[in-house]
Amino acid sequence: MTQDELKQAVARAALDYVLEGQLVGVGTGSTARLFIEALGEIKHKISGAVASSEDTKTRLERHGIKVFDLNEVTDLPVYIDGADEINAEMHMIKGGGGALTREKIVAAVARKFVCIVDGSKLVPVLGSFPLPIEVIPMARALVTRELTRIGGTPVLRQGFVTDNGNLILDVRGLQIVDPVDLETRINQIAGVVSCGLFASRAADVCLLGTSDGVRTLTAD
Ligand code: 5RP
Repeated sequence: MTQDELKQAVARAALDYVLEGQLVGVGTGSTARLFIEALGEIKHKISGAVASSEDTKTRLERHGIKVFDLNEVTDLPVYIDGADEINAEMHMIKGGGGALTREKIVAAVARKFVCIVDGSKLVPVLGSFPLPIEVIPMARALVTRELTRIGGTPVLRQGFVTDNGNLILDVRGLQIVDPVDLETRINQIAGVVSCGLFASRAADVCLLGTSDGVRTLTAD
């Protein structure tokens, strides 16, 4: 199976986690886009969605799905999103698409985080994928120095501005042995809006696309 077919399979499998008559939180990226396509087919069964980016909002609305402002929402049963890497503890690197801050906010409200990935995203140690950090523009140089101090090599994502008007630093060279600790440390740097490590709020379930079918993983 191709990577796209594996993504397609997990996107469809995620429909099982969507509760009838309820809201669903929707992530960003190519796998989330396939999930939106699948969600469009059962849109009459849900009350609406919460989007993690402007792109996702546009796509949901194009499918006739009502999109709610997160501030209007008190209960979000499930959030469904892809990841750039995930480990056995369900810690993730996210933000390859630059939507990490809104993704983290929607995930924080959701009762259940379902991560949908093809098999290549499951890794023993996070960090081969450059860690995205969203930064207030005036803090770019300061945050770059601080990330270098902790052993990373930050590179400014060229020509990219987030939905929140900020910049992304992609940090290479990190072997992330303690994701919760590193997420906390990076969050403490002045000027960091959010860090692409999703460890304090990990996924609850991972639907992993493999050539043998969709595997359902939970934390070890
Ligand atoms: C966007 C994300 C995506 O979930 C992540 O980049 C994975 O994307 P894809 O499904 O295209 O592989 O975090 O900010």
